[in-house]
Order: sequence, then structure tokens, then C-alpha cells
Amino acid sequence: MCGIVGYVGRKEATPLLIEGLRRLEYRGYDSAGICVLTNGTLHVRKQVGRVEGLAQSLKTKPVKGSLGISHTRWATHGLPSDINSHPHLDQSGKVALVHNGIIENYTTLRHRLQRLGHRFLSQTDTEVLAHLIGHHLDQALARKGEVTPERVTQAIFAATREVEGTYAIALMHQGLPGHLFGARRGSPLVVGLGQDENFLASDVSPIVAHTRKVVYLHDGDIVTLTNKDFALQARGKAIQRPISSVDWSAEEAERGKHPHYMLKEIFEQPGRVAEVLRRTLRPAKGNVEFEEMALKPKELAKINRLILVGCGTSWHAALVGEYVIETLARLPVEVEYGSEMRYRGRPIEKNTLIVSISQSGETADTLAAIRAAKAQGARTLGIVNVVGSTIARESDADIYMRAGPEIGVASTKAFEMQVLQLTLLGIALARQRGELSPAAGRKLVRELQTIPGKIEKILAGDAHLRKISKKYHQATGFLYMGRQFNFPVALEGALKLKEISYIHAEGYPSAEMKHGPIALIAPDFPSVFVVPRDAMYDKNMSNVEEIRARKGPIIAVATEGDAEIKHKASDVIYIPQTLDILQPLLTVVPLQLLAYHIAVLRGCDVDKPRNLAKSVTVE
Ligand code: G6P
Repeated sequence: MCGIVGYVGRKEATPLLIEGLRRLEYRGYDSAGICVLTNGTLHVRKQVGRVEGLAQSLKTKPVKGSLGISHTRWATHGLPSDINSHPHLDQSGKVALVHNGIIENYTTLRHRLQRLGHRFLSQTDTEVLAHLIGHHLDQALARKGEVTPERVTQAIFAATREVEGTYAIALMHQGLPGHLFGARRGSPLVVGLGQDENFLASDVSPIVAHTRKVVYLHDGDIVTLTNKDFALQARGKAIQRPISSVDWSAEEAERGKHPHYMLKEIFEQPGRVAEVLRRTLRPAKGNVEFEEMALKPKELAKINRLILVGCGTSWHAALVGEYVIETLARLPVEVEYGSEMRYRGRPIEKNTLIVSISQSGETADTLAAIRAAKAQGARTLGIVNVVGSTIARESDADIYMRAGPEIGVASTKAFEMQVLQLTLLGIALARQRGELSPAAGRKLVRELQTIPGKIEKILAGDAHLRKISKKYHQATGFLYMGRQFNFPVALEGALKLKEISYIHAEGYPSAEMKHGPIALIAPDFPSVFVVPRDAMYDKNMSNVEEIRARKGPIIAVATEGDAEIKHKASDVIYIPQTLDILQPLLTVVPLQLLAYHIAVLRGCDVDKPRNLAKSVTVE
């Protein structure tokens, strides 16, 4: 949700900033801008539209200099327009700022500053923050004269104390050609430490091309960077933060031969699953061992309830987790939307473990929900993809998803890895509680080991999925159905389709169809039915018949060897046989591909669907 890149060094800043913005564009893409300092003058170039548009404008009208900040925007306050794009300047025109987050009290601050004579050009909360920092700096300079890095950090500190809401900012001052400033509260910001150059960015993806040495800022931190060094402070005092090393390379975040990141990420799934299984499974013991999880076996043994919390696709993965963990470990599990749980003040009983599920580790609602639970004394476990993210840091224990960088806005491999990690957690809890014998554990582990090969097989049927997509891509609505473990998969399939193709789609537990959605069934209204040969097969087949009786086309996701379904469905996508409990790891894959191909056929921007952002760091 808005991407920030800042650079201080010896090289030309513009190409580095633009390249960085390209890598962050998945965070927001309605406008983009940069500010570069050239011979004591701030040059701002910003415009509505994609980063590519800005890059083209900069080719015709370049800006030179080796200090700069840049931004790709997902609009919150003020329409996407040239004027509302970042960077914004303060009243003096000497401070330039880019911002990710929301300044909630910006109207009050704006009026106050207007009374002091400030004039605003945009409708954004960000411009108010730029003016507020400028105002504090001007006051200090009126007393003491020259601008210094210390005075800028003091002004940032003073301004941010008056601000309600969230921010990650990068800032530069016209009079300080060798200094870049940053601060965060509630929105992520990372420092990248290079050779004679340093970076600031919303996440590590623009940094890894230059250095793997990073420092993750915490809420309340203010950082000052020069090309040689960095200094941190919090609450007005100097502090230290550890330097971390990023464990993936820039190449991993490249699209490679694939036309879209989404397709690349779908095809990465077998490899990622295999890697996690290799690291985590203990086949001889019929058990799993997590590498990072800091909860001790004793603590795990005490848990008598789990609350899984997430948003969007991660919430769907949590729902799969509910079915899987309850079945395996016989533990009561509840699933919560972060946005609902954070305000409900729900009582949390002793020995309840809060498990947050988040690809980015930065989703504001999920984070707020776990903070609220922690305030009641709950223990928290984060299942996150981004190492060093806020949720990872604030949880008592973590399980890293190991999906690698996910750039496509519509989440695919992250869902797969979340479901996998929740399944592994279910096995660990089940073994711990004596609900799964070593022999049954070994059988389950053996079957898990076949999953990567089975996903490969589904992916090999991609051409068939493309063909089916051609048949249906002009439909105006879809119903997705599945039952038990596959009900959340139906939800996820529908979400994928609507996110990237803008076709309305609804996911339902199959048996609920009779209570409403059946009214939609008609010859031009397709249903995607997840109907593997599992315990629910016969029940599902009755629903299939009900759709057939109303002449609705059916695309079935069924188990290899199921001859019966061929006579009932208009189109069948076969998947390999597996245990009921592991079905979602397979059944979601054809639904991802179906959504992908339909969106491509409709000419949609698959990797950057309209209005969406990959990481939602505002409420
Ligand atoms: C956004 C993304 C979704 C994602 C959700 C939760 O809506 O577009 O793909 O599932 O946020 O994100 P998280 O990073 O917490 O998994």
C-alpha cells in the first residue's frame, strides 16, 4: 500500500529510484513520483499513472543528482492525480516528503497550519505532514539559523508526536545534499546498507539488487542516512537495531520467462512446497519440527484453543486451517477477520493461542487484532512470509511460510504455503496431544511427500485449463462450490477470479446452494464445483444434479479416474488422488490457473488489478 524508495550515495539516483519503484509497484500503482536534489535545488517529477509513465517522462526531461526519494501510490486521501501524487513539499519548498499510511488528524492539522499562513496544493494528508515538519524546522531555524541533520530529525520527531495515524516516510532537505531521513509508525520501512550508498524502502525488494544487509525499523524510529552511515533514534534518544541479512536474491523476484508474476508464482508452488517439507518433516518419527518456532513443547501442550486471524486470502487459508487442525488435533479452532476481531474486544481464555496468518506481515487489521489479543495476555504465533516484518517481530513465535517473494497482487503461492504450514502445525499439535499415533503420522508424512509431484501434474494440464477458460471467459458471474476442506478453496477460487478478471464470483459451501445461490443458476451462469472423491463426494454429486436439472454449466475439479463426473459436468479438470485432509493443497491450483487464464483472455492487468494493493497497511 504505497511504495517508498530513497537513495543516498554517489550514483545517479533517478535510475535506481525508478528501478526500485518498479519492484514496489505491486504496493500501489495509481501514480508515481520522484524528487532528486540537483545543485541545491529540489526537482520533483510526479504524475498520475504507472511507474512506466513516469520513467518515460524522465527520459525526455531527466533529473540528475545522487540524493532522492520516490513513491508509487495507492490513493487514500485525494483522487489519483498529478497534484496529489507524492513527493510533496512543505511551505518553504525546501523539504520533500513521500509517505505511506494515513494521517488521521490531518484536517485539524491542516486548519491549524492554514491559520499560520500555509497554503496547500493537494488534498492529501501527506502534504499536511510535509508542512508540519517544515513548520517545526522553520521554528527551530528562526531561533538557531542553519539547517543541520539534527534539526531535521528533531522537526520530524516534533511533528510525528502531533500526528495520529500511521506513516512510513522518506524525507530530504534542499540544504542537506548528503542526508536522507526516514521514520515509521504502523507502516513498514527498511534501511538497506550498501557500499558508499544507502537505501530506504517499504520492503527489501528494491534493496536486494544492491545489498542484502538491511535494518528493519520499528515503530517510532527515526533514521538519518548518509552514503557511509546511518543513525537511529527513538523518543529523542539514539538507539541501535540489529543488521539482518536477506535470504533471497533479486533474481527470485524477477518475472523470468513467464508473462506474468502470477503465473510464475503458481508454477513455483511444487518447488516451494518440497523445500518446506524437506526442512520440516521428520519421516521416521511421523512428525514435524519447525525451524524457527519458539513455542516450547510444554507451552504447546497447554494450548486448548486456537484463534486463527487473517485478512483476504490469508483468511481463507485460516479457514482451511480450522478444518485441518480440528480434524487432526481435536482442538477447537476459530477463525477471525483481523478487521472484526480488533474492535470486538472478544474475551480470550487462558491457554488460547492466537495464530496470525499474513503473507506481508504488515496488514494493519491483522496486526491490530494480535496487539489487542496480546494486551489481554494471549500468546501469539505468526505464520508470515516476510522475514523481519512487523507481525513476525511482534509475535511470540513465528513460522516462516518460505514462499519466497510474492509480487503478483493476487496471492497464489502464499495461500498454498499458508495451508501447508497450518497442516504441519496441525500434525505437530496432533502428535503432541496424542491424537495422531506415530504410525498414522508416518502415513500422513508419506502422503505429504507426494504433494509436490501431484501439483506438478496439475500444472502440466495448464493447456486444458486455458481451453476451458476460453469457453467461459465471457460469463458475467460464477458460483464456486466445495464442501468441508474444499469450502474455503471455493471461496479462494471465487476471490481469485473477481480480483483479477472483475467478474463477479461467489464461493459457497455446496449444500448451502439451495438457500439462495441456486436462484442464479441458468444456462449462461457457470458453476465451478470442487468435487474430489472424498467423504463428501455423494453429497456433492446431489448438488451437481441440482445444477444440471437447471441447465447450469458445471466445471468440475474431480479426482483422476472418476468416470461418473464426466457424464454430469460440462468440463472436468482432473487432479491426483490424495487424503481428504490434504485436498486443498491440490484443488486450489486449477482454480488459480482458471482465474489467471480468464483474466488474460479478458485483457486484464493480471499482476496489478485495479483498486487493489498487495499489502494493506491502512485500515
Ligand atoms: C490484500 C492482498 C491479498 C491478501 C490480503 C492479506 O488484500 O491483496 O492478496 O490476501 O491483503 O494480506 P497479508 O499480507 O496479511 O496476507
